[in-house]
Amino acid sequence: MSPFHLTRTLPEDATDAALRADVLSGLTGTPKTLPPKWFYDAHGSDLFERITELPEYYPTRAEREILVARSGEIAAAARARTLVELGSGSSEKTRYLLDALDGLHTYVPVDVSESALTQAGHALLAERPGLQVHALIADFTVSLALPDTPGPRLIAFLGGTIGNLVPAERAVFLASVRSLLSPGDALLLGTDLVKEEKTLVEAYDDASGVTAAFNKNVLSVVNRELHADFDPDAFDHVALWDTENEWIEMRLRSRREQTVKIPGVDLAVDFTEGEELRTEVSAKFRKEGVRAELAAAGLELTRWWTDEAGRFALSLSVAR
Ligand code: AVJ
Repeated sequence: MSPFHLTRTLPEDATDAALRADVLSGLTGTPKTLPPKWFYDAHGSDLFERITELPEYYPTRAEREILVARSGEIAAAARARTLVELGSGSSEKTRYLLDALDGLHTYVPVDVSESALTQAGHALLAERPGLQVHALIADFTVSLALPDTPGPRLIAFLGGTIGNLVPAERAVFLASVRSLLSPGDALLLGTDLVKEEKTLVEAYDDASGVTAAFNKNVLSVVNRELHADFDPDAFDHVALWDTENEWIEMRLRSRREQTVKIPGVDLAVDFTEGEELRTEVSAKFRKEGVRAELAAAGLELTRWWTDEAGRFALSLSVAR
């Protein structure tokens, strides 16, 4: 058996249909919204990589600090023979975990980007010749079928991306993760933590404007894919902390009254001056909240690690 498998669970045209559905419902509703998953075309993924290197954007560095310090403990606790990584991207931070998991049989990176999966998969095989890599092209927010590989399983969902889901969506997502696990299998979850408002807002509104460009890139995606005529310069980047919900919101605020045509969905969208389009929710967490959400999905939080500064957490929870 070849050590590298690639399974496509997303039809080639699924992305197109999903974007059209999201644009149609999101831009005809009140308030206007677009889901954050559409940030990540090739240019948006590059911009996100640049965000992770910004002085203001601490989550990536904080999570890496935890992985460097704790991968040995994580591996010893999980004893996984199969590691599944949701939203694996470049699998860059996962190296620490992969290196610590001695008995690992199969690595299952899951991502919507085929190129990221192929690149990361082959780079990894060069270093770990015995390892099976079974890459899945899939949208993990929908539904997943995992290959039949030896347990125990460890599912890793890093980066704090769970914060892009609102609480009801998180409940559905965590239940679906739980359904992929057998009793004793584990979930390793990265969550950004509640902290001082200034630190949070600056992480999403950096001085050099990279996050603003990332936010506006979603308009270029809609222009390209659906032949729309958004003028990114006609919108301002907004990042705000919602104290009640404990999440950061990114928005695009229309600088003037304008009408945008989106022929791909046969739509003309009116914006009033100052009207805001919500493009992302990035929820921040507290330990007891994470514990409760996991418990509601049948997962028991057993370990909790933060970086030295207490900005970000990795939790390990076990399926009951
Ligand atoms: C990749 C979803 C974890 O919410 O912090 C970075 C995306 N948005 N800057 C986050 C993001 C604005 C990021 N996640």
